[in-house]
Amino acid sequence: MTFHHVYGEKSTQEYVFSDCGVCNLVDRALDGYNTTVFAFGQTGSGKTFSITGPDDVDFSPKDSGRWGIVPRSLNYLFQRIAERSASGETYVVRASYLEIYNEQVQDLLNPTNTSLPVRWTSEKGFYVENLFVVQCEVLDDTMAVLEEGEFEQKPHSFRCEFRIEKSENRCNRFK
Ligand SMILES: Nc1ncnc2c1ncn2[C@@H]1O[C@H](COP(=O)(O)OP(=O)(O)OP(=O)(O)O)[C@@H](O)[C@H]1O
Ligand SMILES: [Mg+2]
Repeated sequence: MTFHHVYGEKSTQEYVFSDCGVCNLVDRALDGYNTTVFAFGQTGSGKTFSITGPDDVDFSPKDSGRWGIVPRSLNYLFQRIAERSASGETYVVRASYLEIYNEQVQDLLNPTNTSLPVRWTSEKGFYVENLFVVQCEVLDDTMAVLEEGEFEQKPHSFRCEFRIEKSENRCNRFK
């Protein structure tokens, strides 16, 4: 196991975002690679704070100074899509928001009483069957997905998935 870095108590959300390398992951996702951000740690250690923001964070631009890695990544994603679109590339962004808790998979955008099944095919790889997917045209659409999912989320565990498709049908994921 390799140890890389500890951020000090005065580190800001902005600094952590710009320094931790997640922008490279967003760029690689736009290039066609699957990328994942994974937060792991004991309860209360700051996973949600780092990934999403403080408990009362607001996903509107006026609170962007307190945003964690996911809303900042989405902001960066749409900036990069705008830049790349200028050279003729087009992308489709689709979002889903699910929670894995006690080995049960729950769709946070369409909560039900049953756990959704995880399937695998050679074509799709692993996927969650019947997961609600929202096509996102602009940043605000993805922020609405985050808000909706946060509202339904139990504490402790969640996964937010953003899927990006390039016009020539390459399928990428940013999770
Ligand atoms: N760097 C930080 N600066 C200020 N407050 C923080 C920081 N990190 C975490 N907190 C606060 O500490 C509390 C616990 O953090 P958080 O909820 O992120 O933990 P967690 O790892 O997600 O825990 P759980 O596993 O229970 O979900 C929260 O109130 C959060 O806002
Ligand atoms: Mg948490």
